[in-house]
Amino acid sequence: MKDLVFATNNAHKVEEVRNKLNGLFSIRTLSEIGCTEEIPETSDTLQGNASQKSHYLHDKYHCNCFADDTGLEVEALDGAPGVFSARYAGPAKDSEANIDKLLAELKNKSNRRARFRTVISLFLEDKEYFFEGIVTGTILTERHGNGGFGYDPVFQPDGYDCSFSELTMEEKNSISHRGRAVEELIKFLNGAK
Ligand code: IMP
Repeated sequence: MKDLVFATNNAHKVEEVRNKLNGLFSIRTLSEIGCTEEIPETSDTLQGNASQKSHYLHDKYHCNCFADDTGLEVEALDGAPGVFSARYAGPAKDSEANIDKLLAELKNKSNRRARFRTVISLFLEDKEYFFEGIVTGTILTERHGNGGFGYDPVFQPDGYDCSFSELTMEEKNSISHRGRAVEELIKFLNGAK
């Protein structure tokens, strides 16, 4: 079985991909390949960041690998916070502060349309491929639910009358930006075996 390095140490993300790969590739995490340094993410686009991370691994470890990057893109804020979603309210990457800032920015706006977008960059046999997943929805005026992470309490996906926080993990994964990008990746990998 071929190894495929996922540029993450997030156990939940790894589990999701492993479950869908039907044992065709063996997913390895950063810590499993001995990569303990912080991988640079200095681009101003999601695609640029995903690509920067997978290039870094490919150049340094000469491996098949992939990396993802996600942002929340809000229409009335011209796509912000976008690639800066994690650090919207400052370098501390504080989700509560990020949500507070988002709600304040949207206070007098009638258009609350938004989407999450994930881009994956894959290096397979020295060639790069990109995959994307999007989920559209609206930003609620206050927090709903306790589950999930990041902006989940204020994001209501289209077709649902609750926030991402109020969905089970399985429900969220089946419609989420990341779930959809991973589906595209898996379809490709299952065909590339
Ligand atoms: P990352 O690229 O997966 O690290 O995501 C960057 C930032 O986007 C995170 O720090 C969160 O603020 C936000 N984000 C990404 N995915 C989600 C999600 O599924 N729900 C809520 N927020 C998310």
